[in-house]
Amino acid sequence: MENLHDRRKVYEKLQLIENEIKQNPFDQFRDWFLEATENPAVSESNAMALSTVEDDDCPRTRMVLLKSYSHEGFVFFTNYNSRKGRSIEKNHRACLHFFWPSLERQIIIKADLDMIAENLSDGYFHSRPKGSQLGAVVSPQSEKIPNREYLEEKLKKLEGEFADREIPRPENWGGYIAKPYEIEFWQGRPNRLHDRIVYRLEDSDWIISRLAP
Ligand SMILES: Cc1cc2nc3c(=O)[nH]c(=O)nc-3n(C[C@H](O)[C@H](O)[C@H](O)COP(=O)(O)O)c2cc1C
Repeated sequence: MENLHDRRKVYEKLQLIENEIKQNPFDQFRDWFLEATENPAVSESNAMALSTVEDDDCPRTRMVLLKSYSHEGFVFFTNYNSRKGRSIEKNHRACLHFFWPSLERQIIIKADLDMIAENLSDGYFHSRPKGSQLGAVVSPQSEKIPNREYLEEKLKKLEGEFADREIPRPENWGGYIAKPYEIEFWQGRPNRLHDRIVYRLEDSDWIISRLAP
């Protein structure tokens, strides 16, 4: 047995206290996100874990990239027919999770997911490098495929076909917006007495509470 009992990190860099936080969780998110993005020790500040609930009532988590955020919610892009797309179709509740170890911070967002407008997905799709656009066309995300060559041959064929043409966005590829109803900000503190501030939407107001660590 590998024993990891002695692996222990002391969290001591920062704090999260009521008189320093924003009253709106999106403003608080923005402050933390900008700090993470500006910190050279954080390599992909916009990488987040997305959990959705599947047919067996079990959550399943994978990473996706946050591509925009506003007071409306948090947007990411994917294949609507993928495993996550199929689970979202049946249950639009999801959890997003950010962990920035060098800042000793995590954010947990519980949200309802909606597809974004098609013109917004078009706009983002066409802003991507051509290789990424073709990758989205080529990959039947989450399906079983015979081997890697299957993808590479398909890509080669499409590269020829679309050499001088705009690649249309596949109908099954686009964005989701996660509209939160609860956002928790966690800041590591000494002696495991971490700070946890949670914002919960109640009758259009964000109610702020502190949770025990
Ligand atoms: C850092 C990172 C970022 C990723 N970003 C995305 C993304 O924005 N969209 C996406 O569809 N998959 C992304 N992936 C791949 C997903 O984690 C996942 O493998 C894929 O979406 C298929 O998931 P599913 O079968 O559960 O639908 C990313 C993976 C990593 C490690």
